[in-house]
Amino acid sequence: MNSNSSDLGPESLPRHIAIIMDGNGRWAKKRSLNRIKGHREGAESVRDIVRVCREIGIEVLTLYAFSTENWRRPTREISALMGLLKNFLKSELAEMMENGIRLNAIGQIERFPDDVLDVLREVMEATRKNQGMLLNLALSYGGRDEIVMAAAKIATEIKSGRLQPEEITKEVFSGYLYTHWMPEPDLLIRTSGEMRISNFLLWQIAYTEIFVTKTLWPDFRRAQLIQILRDYQERERRFGMTEEQIQKAN
Ligand code: IPE
Ligand code: IPE
Ligand code: MG
Repeated sequence: MNSNSSDLGPESLPRHIAIIMDGNGRWAKKRSLNRIKGHREGAESVRDIVRVCREIGIEVLTLYAFSTENWRRPTREISALMGLLKNFLKSELAEMMENGIRLNAIGQIERFPDDVLDVLREVMEATRKNQGMLLNLALSYGGRDEIVMAAAKIATEIKSGRLQPEEITKEVFSGYLYTHWMPEPDLLIRTSGEMRISNFLLWQIAYTEIFVTKTLWPDFRRAQLIQILRDYQERERRFGMTEEQIQKAN
């Protein structure tokens, strides 16, 4: 497989890639290992994919690291994930600074333990001015919760008279989401073969290109990403229009 990124034309690269990083548990199970070992190996894939995305000039990389539903997992697994996140943030800060990566988090991060939250806030603050790439971690994130939160904020604005009901448009609504300052994802990747969204970016993926791979997240590295990007570049995004209209515009 050719994993060289040099033949990826910059013109049709996605600005924003979102990834549902799934399959850590199955990766471990296949090797008769504890699930936690799968998460640990998964962190290596995160390192690799962040590097590749930065290298090829992706503007935003959103990684689904922990969903609101993942709080239902065994306490031991949750604690291990928190520990891994904390270590990841600490160990990656130097490289993020070197490569101009800004870290952001979307989700109900206040549900995280204080020690993890402190590191998360420190890294977000330290990398705030970096402009190379936005690494956006979805942590304790749920798409429905995000939409409900936006609706509640809008209701408060209306109640106080700062907003009129007739002023609510798609654009105004988007402005109340965590992602209001980012382009919408162009490409959504899910690893390990599951054909579902699992409450990820429900509003934002209305016209996102979806790619599901059977590769388990800990096995997902540079070569697979480059291959998916090649596939993406072959696709025609029509946004409801006809093929003829799109070709005329290009
Ligand atoms: C993804 O891997 C990581 C998280 C959801 C935190 P899983 O832990 O869901 O792995 P599988 O789906 O059990 O294989
Ligand atoms: C989705 O994976 C959430 C993350 C990758 C963080 P899950 O493993 O939690 O999804 P389901 O439960 O199989 O839908
Ligand atoms: Mg899973």
